[in-house]
Formats: sequence, C-alpha cells, structure tokens
Amino acid sequence: MKLFRCRICGDPYLGAAPPSFCPFCGAPERYMVPAEEYQDRNYIPDLSDRSRANLEKALELEVANASFYLCASACSPEPVSQAMFKALAKAESEHASVISKLLHTKKPEIRPDDKACRKEPQANFAESHEREKRAVAFYRQAAAEAVEERVKEVFSALVEIESYHIGLSEARK
Ligand SMILES: [Fe+2]
Ligand SMILES: [Fe+2]
Repeated sequence: MKLFRCRICGDPYLGAAPPSFCPFCGAPERYMVPAEEYQDRNYIPDLSDRSRANLEKALELEVANASFYLCASACSPEPVSQAMFKALAKAESEHASVISKLLHTKKPEIRPDDKACRKEPQANFAESHEREKRAVAFYRQAAAEAVEERVKEVFSALVEIESYHIGLSEARK
C-alpha cells in the first residue's frame, strides 16, 4: 500500500496505485501525487479582488448544490438514486472545503435544503443537470479571470469534475 494525496483537495488516499478519480473531490488521476511530493499551495498572500469574489460566489454555489443533493438523496425512493445523490453531495461538500481553504474561512455548515429538491428522482436529475451546467459555465469564466496559478488550477479542475457530473445526470434525467 502507498500513500497518495490529491493536489486539488489535499486529502490522503491509501492504495496500491493512485485512483482514477479522487474519492473525495472527484479530480482525475493526474492530480494524485505520492504524499512526499504534495505541497500545500492554498496560502495565497495577495489574492486579487476578482478571484476573491469568484471564490466567494463558488463557495455559495457549492454549499447550495451540496444542500440540494442531500435533500435529493433523502427524498429518493430507491437505493441507486439515494447513493448517486449522496455521492454528489459529498463531492460538492468537498469542493466547499477546498474553496474555504483558499479563502481561509471556516467551511459553512451544510444541511439538506428541503425547498430546493423535489420528490421524484427524475425531476432532481433534471435539476442537477441545470445546476452542474451553471457551475461549469461559471468556473470556466472564473478560471479565465484568475491571475493566480493555484486559483486557475482549482477552477479548471472544478470545470472538469462538474462536467463529469453533467454526464451522470444526462444519463438519468
Ligand atoms: Fe481530491
Ligand atoms: Fe462542485
């Protein structure tokens, strides 16, 4: 067994080989590095106003999406949708952690948002699709606007990860 860390979320993973996707934030394998090579790059002394504003908006978005997925999971009548929405809630919650680290703020508490989700999984997959599409569009813009290499890296990884989420909802809505 070896110890790896994800360059996006920083979380540690024990395994024979790096996972194809980070089990915590969903970043693809190329972001997984041996633990000895990991460097914490979340301290950015002169964060630009634009990046700060974009990170604050991203934090709100991730918390709202995680809350939506927690509700969607709780409302699902069958185990596959329950598990799918739970997995998505965990990924979005991890994204909120990553962004909180960059902003050096305490991660907001995430509770199910009973008003945001519906009763039928299909309606929730359709809603998921719209939320992920909005996230990808915003993160693409935020990555382009970022002047800090680390902020650009995180927003670019989020574009990729949320695009995979679109693929999941596309298959199920
Ligand atoms: Fe990760
Ligand atoms: Fe996310």
